[in-house]
Amino acid sequence: MGVFPKDFLWGGATAANQFEGAWDVDGKGPSCMDMATNGNHHHPREITPELDPNKLYPCHDGVDFYHHYKEDIALLAEMGFKVFRFSMNWPRVFPTGFEDEPNAAGLAFYDCVMDECHKYGIEPLVTLSHYEMPFAMCQKVDGWASREAIDCYVKYAKTVMEHFKGKCRYWLTFNEINCGMMSLGNYMSLGILNPGSFDLRHQKDDPQKRLQALHHQFVASALAVKAGHEIDPDNKIGCMIAYMLAYPLTPNPADVELARERNQYRNYYCSDVQVRGEYPYFAQRIWDEEGVTLDITDEDRKILKEGTVDFYTHSYYQSQCASTDPAEETSGNLLGGAKNPYLKETAWEWPIDPMGLRIMLNQVYERYQIPIMVVENGLGCCDEVNPDGSIDDDYRIEYLRDHIKAMAEAIKDGVEVWGYTPWGCIDLVSNADGEMAKRYGFVYVDKHDDGTGTMERSRKKSFYWYKKVIETNGEEL
Ligand code: BG6
Repeated sequence: MGVFPKDFLWGGATAANQFEGAWDVDGKGPSCMDMATNGNHHHPREITPELDPNKLYPCHDGVDFYHHYKEDIALLAEMGFKVFRFSMNWPRVFPTGFEDEPNAAGLAFYDCVMDECHKYGIEPLVTLSHYEMPFAMCQKVDGWASREAIDCYVKYAKTVMEHFKGKCRYWLTFNEINCGMMSLGNYMSLGILNPGSFDLRHQKDDPQKRLQALHHQFVASALAVKAGHEIDPDNKIGCMIAYMLAYPLTPNPADVELARERNQYRNYYCSDVQVRGEYPYFAQRIWDEEGVTLDITDEDRKILKEGTVDFYTHSYYQSQCASTDPAEETSGNLLGGAKNPYLKETAWEWPIDPMGLRIMLNQVYERYQIPIMVVENGLGCCDEVNPDGSIDDDYRIEYLRDHIKAMAEAIKDGVEVWGYTPWGCIDLVSNADGEMAKRYGFVYVDKHDDGTGTMERSRKKSFYWYKKVIETNGEEL
């Protein structure tokens, strides 16, 4: 018998704001990311509360999945996908978030997508919110900073769970909810429009507001889980964490302690609430150190207990080192931390650490003992198209192969892993930098950073490789 269970869910993942395009078509309202310009590794995306006609907004067109979904899902089916993770664009269903009734055309689009998936025996796995809050909510109620956001989200979650009952049974409430533990999460994850904070990556930060907004997301998530179970007892509803594994840079106990704190703060604060239904024992110290007093009602605490998730999912791209030496500590990347001298990095300075996946899968399983799904992983890099149109992305194959091997080791260790959906299975707009140059896909899309391109799809070498991986249930890597 092979390592992977016979019903292992092989697939891939996307997010509406980076993939769908058609940002103002068929009644859709703008999402927060529709107001973010393009950027690149050296120039952060800019948030423009008013659209600037002289700037490019890459999420407006994405890679036009909206008009290519049949062709795209056929390609996923050709690779043998068992599951397709995509997000619903909240303002496609509720354009401002405040409507009483959903936009019928929005629901109709996702009906088509799901029907197309089922035609090929592909299970939809839907993220309800993947950095796609209706922009009107950012403007009117300061996003998740307001309790009003909870009602808007629960109305949306119930509407789609009722509408798609029988068509979709795997749901994730919030993508990378722990993004709200960092100032980076203020706008894209929490919808907070801090005046004068135009740089997407470096947001002005008010921890009181941010952690309160995150609390509202926890309550909303728990209410959605509860409602989802009532609507259809077959529903499996998960949390989704951006797993940021931290190692101590040295055996100096101070570094070891810093890594421990960082792992707790970044990785476990959120999932403890969503999996165990209560804030962890270390939360109070975090609040004290951040000078924060949260408004958590008795009713909130009850809701959190009643709405715990069925499974744990996460993204995993890289690890970091923690160092108490300030000179080392600033040598890291977007997520901070120190450089790990044992690891190579991508062109975007993300350390490549397959073994970290085995380590973190064990850590999470040891803590929660519930099934896990790796719903994002992958190599973002430039691809070159050969004169004959082929793309030899051996580097991507190597990256994914090493991570799948590490996941297989974790399964042998006894960790229950349900599935694997590498990120951006079809090229899409990158999130942090808003560029097309950073590609993740098995399928190439002819779209470029200046907005040009035919949107034509073509198969990369990794497409054929992944097809074989799925066909052999991970035996042939
Ligand atoms: C995850 C997000 O953080 O990383 C995705 O859930 C994102 O939306 C992915 O695209 C890769 O990051 P990037 O910035 O390379 O697109």
